[in-house]
Amino acid sequence: MRHLLSAADLSRDEAVLILDTAAQMAATQSRQIKKLPTLRGRTVINLFFEDSTRTRISFETAAKRLSADVINFSAKGSSVSKGESLKDTALTLQAMGADAVVIRHQASGAPHTLATAGWTDCAVVNAGDGTHQHPTQALLDAYTARRHLVGAGGTQDVTGRDLAGLHVAIVGDVLHSRVARSNMQLLHTLGARVTLVAPPTLVPVGVQTWPCAVSYHLDEVLAQGPDAVMMLRVQRERMSSAGGGFFPSALEYTRGYGLDARRLAGLPDHAIVMHPGPMNRGLEISADAADSPRSVVVEQVANGVAVRMAVLYLLLSGTGPATSAGDEVADESGTPEKVGTGA
Ligand code: CP
Repeated sequence: MRHLLSAADLSRDEAVLILDTAAQMAATQSRQIKKLPTLRGRTVINLFFEDSTRTRISFETAAKRLSADVINFSAKGSSVSKGESLKDTALTLQAMGADAVVIRHQASGAPHTLATAGWTDCAVVNAGDGTHQHPTQALLDAYTARRHLVGAGGTQDVTGRDLAGLHVAIVGDVLHSRVARSNMQLLHTLGARVTLVAPPTLVPVGVQTWPCAVSYHLDEVLAQGPDAVMMLRVQRERMSSAGGGFFPSALEYTRGYGLDARRLAGLPDHAIVMHPGPMNRGLEISADAADSPRSVVVEQVANGVAVRMAVLYLLLSGTGPATSAGDEVADESGTPEKVGTGA
């Protein structure tokens, strides 16, 4: 794997390797000294053209925990606001000697262009592009689901396991959601069954070709007893730029597609509630649901660091002089743990 651009690019074995590597990374993060020497001498640039809290901070944390140098670039306050193109920005970053570029961009396909146009030699990681893909979100969601639904909350070893047999409902603004697209593809690759639930106006054209079921009726899907319910953010900023009118009112959306205490009470005992964040509390998810013991929303954020450490490690550890594929991840006492070679 040279870049991580789309969840659709990952085979089952590659995805499981990333999840297994993330589990090893997570184990190092409960130690007193969390920093590993693995990517010493490497430079990771976070290139964010769109706002982010979780993704940007967790990529920065992940790179720093692996001892990489990190440069944070935000389009706001940069020469992008003077009209500089993605190409010239990329050439500038290449001149800085970056090894990896983590890019979030409002245009679907921007990370693919960066990876393939010949402007940079860096490994490119897609941190969310338009309505297209957000592969590390899907990986951290799969990691979280595996931990809870396959590994009994972390008490069982899940190394090598996928998500076969699980049923995941992905609910809400599917039309504008790169999280929905990435998760649907990765969950399918990992053997889970996916049902997308949305009002007809928020279902993308062509969804019948996707490897999942589609429903307009949340209560009917919840009655099937899904193992996980993944609520999506209503992306009002993308709706207003399209002229709005995707649902009659916030109240009607919440009645039809919001997860509240009543719907939460009908879920199987083991079911978990997920949300990629940021949440619109009171719209797609009530405070009862967001803060319930079933909610793994905060854990999803925490798992994002381990998953992004795994992705950066697998992309970068086999290149350049600092470490080579199959090198070891040392704990704070210097005791090495073997981590698999690149996906
Ligand atoms: N889930 C997610 O991508 O959140 P941010 O937009 O805060 O990064």
